[in-house]
Amino acid sequence: MNQALPSIAPPVVDFLGEHDQKGLLRFLTCGSVDDGKSTLIGRLLHDTKRVFEDQAAALRKDSRKYGTQGEALDFALLVDGLEAEREQGITIDVAYRFFATEGRKFIVADTPGHEQYTRNMATGASNSDLAVILIDARKGVLQQTRRHSFIVSLLGIRHVVVAVNKMDLVGHDRAVLDAIESDYRAFAEGFGFETLQVIPMSALTGENVTVQSEAMPWYEGPTLLEHIESIDVASDDRLGPFRMPVQWVNRPNLDFRGYAGTVVSGSIRPGDKVAVAASGRVATVSRIATMSGDLEEAVAGDAVTITLEEEVDISRGDVLSLPDQRPEVSDRLNAHVIWMGDQALRTSRNYIIKAGKRTTTGVVRHIEHGIDVNSLKHLPTETLALNEIGFCEIQLGAPVAFDPYEVNRDMGSFVLIDPLTNQTVGAGLIWSSLRKADNIHRQAFDIDRTARAALTGQTPRVLWFTGLSGAGKSTIANLVEQRLHAQGRLTFLLDGDNVRHGLNKDLGFAEADRVENIRRVGEVAKLFTEAGLITLVSFISPFRSDRQMARDLFGPGEFVEIHVHAPLEIAETRDPKGLYRKARAGEIRNFTGIDSPYEAPEQAELVLDTVARSAEDLADEVIRHLGL
Ligand code: ADX
Repeated sequence: MNQALPSIAPPVVDFLGEHDQKGLLRFLTCGSVDDGKSTLIGRLLHDTKRVFEDQAAALRKDSRKYGTQGEALDFALLVDGLEAEREQGITIDVAYRFFATEGRKFIVADTPGHEQYTRNMATGASNSDLAVILIDARKGVLQQTRRHSFIVSLLGIRHVVVAVNKMDLVGHDRAVLDAIESDYRAFAEGFGFETLQVIPMSALTGENVTVQSEAMPWYEGPTLLEHIESIDVASDDRLGPFRMPVQWVNRPNLDFRGYAGTVVSGSIRPGDKVAVAASGRVATVSRIATMSGDLEEAVAGDAVTITLEEEVDISRGDVLSLPDQRPEVSDRLNAHVIWMGDQALRTSRNYIIKAGKRTTTGVVRHIEHGIDVNSLKHLPTETLALNEIGFCEIQLGAPVAFDPYEVNRDMGSFVLIDPLTNQTVGAGLIWSSLRKADNIHRQAFDIDRTARAALTGQTPRVLWFTGLSGAGKSTIANLVEQRLHAQGRLTFLLDGDNVRHGLNKDLGFAEADRVENIRRVGEVAKLFTEAGLITLVSFISPFRSDRQMARDLFGPGEFVEIHVHAPLEIAETRDPKGLYRKARAGEIRNFTGIDSPYEAPEQAELVLDTVARSAEDLADEVIRHLGL
């Protein structure tokens, strides 16, 4: 998910540069200012001497002026001050802060705890290794504690620290800690945390944050800083199956073609075979190049450029894997979606989906249930508002390679982007594929479309005629096919009425059936096009998202969308099959234009006005458009 969520602020780059060789731990803090979150972060920054001197001076001044802590420093002022600074620029939801000790460098994602908690937490958590969940010792486990823990677990964070803060205000009482700890452990049992460290502390005094508390001799565990300095969060990424999403194809000259990307799990060596997930093509790694020379082995986290011995077709967004350990490839998924848009999610609407390095379109077909983040109960719902979470069924415009989020966070997440505003409106965590064909991996054969097209001597294409019943699709498609045939070209015409007598005779006209109708004909058109034919499709295909889905099956320039246009009144007066009359009489339901919508193309390659011009004329225009 990292790729499209708000990127980490530029100072990170300097920070990482400075401490390049140290281990890095990213963590997230959950809690509200009242729980002492700002104080805790301020304490960590201060005690590790990462506070810039001038800020420290200002802090001393402000503490005297506004502080609530007498002569002592008020760390909350420090953190809130940094936040104010940031807020003068663009508003960002998550503030990242950096500090380091001798042994490690740290990036803390500080997510403001107010209403937009879910969106903020999801953003901050997406690349965190650990979460610090704050509990006020006086209040114990609250609803917000459950909510934070659920989101942390949903986002795949496996290491949790429960910081029981303000122990000084409960007399450093061990019984208080014990009660909170057993409460917390009881409800967090199902969350799948690998480590769970409960630390009694006082962020204000620094006890058990950076220094051992003398007032709590009964606590024998590490301080927070000791714990986060020493904890091993290295996941098994290196051991997992090899995955590398191709970020770009590096082709500086004709002699070099490399596939650049970051290995997200597993490892690879020259001589190993890799498979392209979507096409099934297999090739042998010849070199693993980096800025500082070739590698003998690339492991998770390495940014590399791989060259292959055989020439295969690979583009941005493809995923390289080992041939016997491939990711799943699917265009229908079940996923948890965390909604981050100000406008609610609309099912059936097209969003842009970014999964790994792949961009496609997608529609949330159905929300199986919403999740109440406080009670964790499942709720029936039709939509998701800001900060709500639902378990959804998603139809993608094109198949993507993925692993379930639980197994691999990089390979299992995606973001939804509003195509109009270009804003990230949701984060998706993939659960599983909904296609039955998922464990059937694509086989690659050597006689491919190019070979077949060479034999026919034509450029295979699909001419997709869409429009109302009675607009003239079949008439024009028929004339176009005659002309192509007369030129000696190999064609095939798929007509809605005809296909509905055979392949699609099990389908009616309810929305779901129409979607399936178009999915099937899109796939058939694809096969025919791969067979080398110029394929004409004449289907009403009333829904934009379905035509887009069909378009996504084809390469650039291959899919020619032709809107055969006639206003409804005209189509209705033509009524060649007497169906409009029946629809008006209520004898036919879901009739396009009457009681079922027709969504006109917005960017068809060609619009044919069947009122102003004759079918012959328009057929000629199609031929001209094709340059044939
Ligand atoms: S689509 O909407 O699912 O793309 P398709 O092109 O396959 O439709 O089939 C449309 C043809 O089915 C029409 O030309 C018409 O003859 C017939 N038909 C029967 N019932 C309907 C209906 N309810 N809506 C539209 N067309 C219908």
